[in-house]
Amino acid sequence: MKPAICLGIETTAHTFGVGIVAQDGKILADVKDSFTTGSGGMIPHEVAEHHVKVCDAVLAKALSDAGIGMSDIRLISFSQSPGIGPCLKIGATVARLLSHLHGIPLIGVNHCIAHLEIARLLTPAKDPVLLYASGANTQIIAFEEGKYRIFGETLDQGIGNLLDSFARHIGLGFPGGPKVEQLALKAREQDAPLIELPYVVKGMDLSFGGILTNIARKWDSGAFTKEGLCFSLQETVFAMLVEVSERAMAHTGKIELAIGGGVGCNKRLQEMCRLMCEARGAQFFAPPNTVLIDNGVMIAWLGLLQYNAGERMAIADAIIKPYLRTDEIEVRWR
Ligand code: ATP
Ligand code: FE2
Repeated sequence: MKPAICLGIETTAHTFGVGIVAQDGKILADVKDSFTTGSGGMIPHEVAEHHVKVCDAVLAKALSDAGIGMSDIRLISFSQSPGIGPCLKIGATVARLLSHLHGIPLIGVNHCIAHLEIARLLTPAKDPVLLYASGANTQIIAFEEGKYRIFGETLDQGIGNLLDSFARHIGLGFPGGPKVEQLALKAREQDAPLIELPYVVKGMDLSFGGILTNIARKWDSGAFTKEGLCFSLQETVFAMLVEVSERAMAHTGKIELAIGGGVGCNKRLQEMCRLMCEARGAQFFAPPNTVLIDNGVMIAWLGLLQYNAGERMAIADAIIKPYLRTDEIEVRWR
């Protein structure tokens, strides 16, 4: 018998993604198209328009990459929470439409949990603490007492938004994270000194707003180079992430750290996580970049986990939940 195949649709933020995954975890397709700008930021209704424009082509390419048609799909999953309302709506609408047209069951999944589950599928990690560092989100998540709980999180913006805002301020365009990484690397190769920035860890939580104001002023003063500021920004905020992740590991007694989210692609952040884990006899796992950034593959995989655990959803219940938190989700598959 052919394994059941799930088509997952991701639209929490700037990416429209379709992933196709088989029951045994084999990835058959991973197609995405992300909204970008040359110099401005991300405006929700423009991003939603982008998703509408590209959805047909992304879906068609995913099916053709997988070498299958809609009639081979047994389940449709979509990112139901959390995210930007206008963007989430496009994914939910596409999922409802496909479900209705083709008579395929559908299921809504939580995007943050999907990041953790895809790390469990694609790395040897079994029960990791997840450092989820993306544009909009920054959370430390782990499975405890039947639920995915948030052990620490940002009190204001996500870390990627901080990197993107600073990049925009110095004229680098969106997304800024990879550009900041390149400039930081240059400074590191030249042994640039660390420029002091606020370090804001409050208990288990993080705050980035004050750091942005501070570093933007430093840039405006003309006294510092782009490279030096990018380097110091990364060293400071990544140390904050690693500190809170380590404390979550100590608290939960877990011996694995996995990373998720677009900022997780950053090699320096991965290096700092690895060093922290080595120092405490733990292991660090980074899944491939293709699933660190937003993607439909992890949505498809979590859809399969939930469906196989007996979860069902009526089309009428396929409504978006932009503010739902991970610990409100009932976990039946673990
Ligand atoms: P969500 O918050 O819904 O998970 P998102 O829209 O923030 O999604 P992601 O693709 O997870 O999407 O992450 C995008 C963020 O990752 C952007 O802020 C981008 O600047 C950042 N980013 C991508 N690559 C790197 C990198 N190499 N170094 C640092 N940041 C990066
Ligand atoms: Fe994400």
